[in-house]
Amino acid sequence: MNQNTTIDTDRLPKHLAIIMDGNGRWAKQKGMLRVFGHENGTKAVRETVEASAKLGIENLTLYAFSTENWNRPKLEVDTLMKLLVNSLKNELPTLQNNNIKLSTIGNTNQLPESARKQLDEVIEITKNNTRMTLTLALSYGSREEIVSAVKAISEKIKTNNLEISDISESTINQHLYTSNLPDVDLVIRTSGEQRISNFLLWQVAYAEFYYTDILWPDFREKDLHEAIISYQKRERRFGKTSEQIK
Ligand code: FPP
Repeated sequence: MNQNTTIDTDRLPKHLAIIMDGNGRWAKQKGMLRVFGHENGTKAVRETVEASAKLGIENLTLYAFSTENWNRPKLEVDTLMKLLVNSLKNELPTLQNNNIKLSTIGNTNQLPESARKQLDEVIEITKNNTRMTLTLALSYGSREEIVSAVKAISEKIKTNNLEISDISESTINQHLYTSNLPDVDLVIRTSGEQRISNFLLWQVAYAEFYYTDILWPDFREKDLHEAIISYQKRERRFGKTSEQIK
């Protein structure tokens, strides 16, 4: 295979974030209810998680449920919560076999107790796994995350545990849900939509974006590989000139 079709495993994104979009449209195309799309979306989740670990990606973050998604019809929200609980139960062996640690970002206190219990259990069981960190963004909103960081930082100033002059980018990083994760290198969004939807606004400052028309339930290992190959063809300059990078 030539250079254009193979993945250079020395230059993988350290942090890949995915906006899994198009479940509803996928179901509608088949004349089915939206929840059928979400059910099939879980298969794409499994394949993507396994394929990412196999490649050697160290951090994978999936946008599974946004703060705004609470406004969806009750049947859809309830189904998504049930799917989350069932997937966590069913996929624990996948996480263990692949040495994957589960983590979450978001206001998970808002989740139903069954989901929180299941999450806590899987997080505890997988906490020493080292190959890849899989982070589920659940009841997640980036603006809400930034507000909560500002509150925590303000509290430290108020109680004389931090000087205003000492606030830096690193202070903000340390107070975000993602404090243990590197910046995002690559964002993939499926379904043809090209927007960020309140996802990791601070963390994507220098990320590359990859959009595909594929609807999330149809997203497969080959599609992940295509996205990584596209990422590897780009020149990331971080504000410098092309000559400086070379
Ligand atoms: C967006 O499609 C998808 C979601 C809001 C939920 C994503 C959930 C899953 C893939 C399944 C469960 C996840 C885990 C981690 C077990 P959409 O409903 O907005 O699609 P549409 O834009 O076509 O309506």
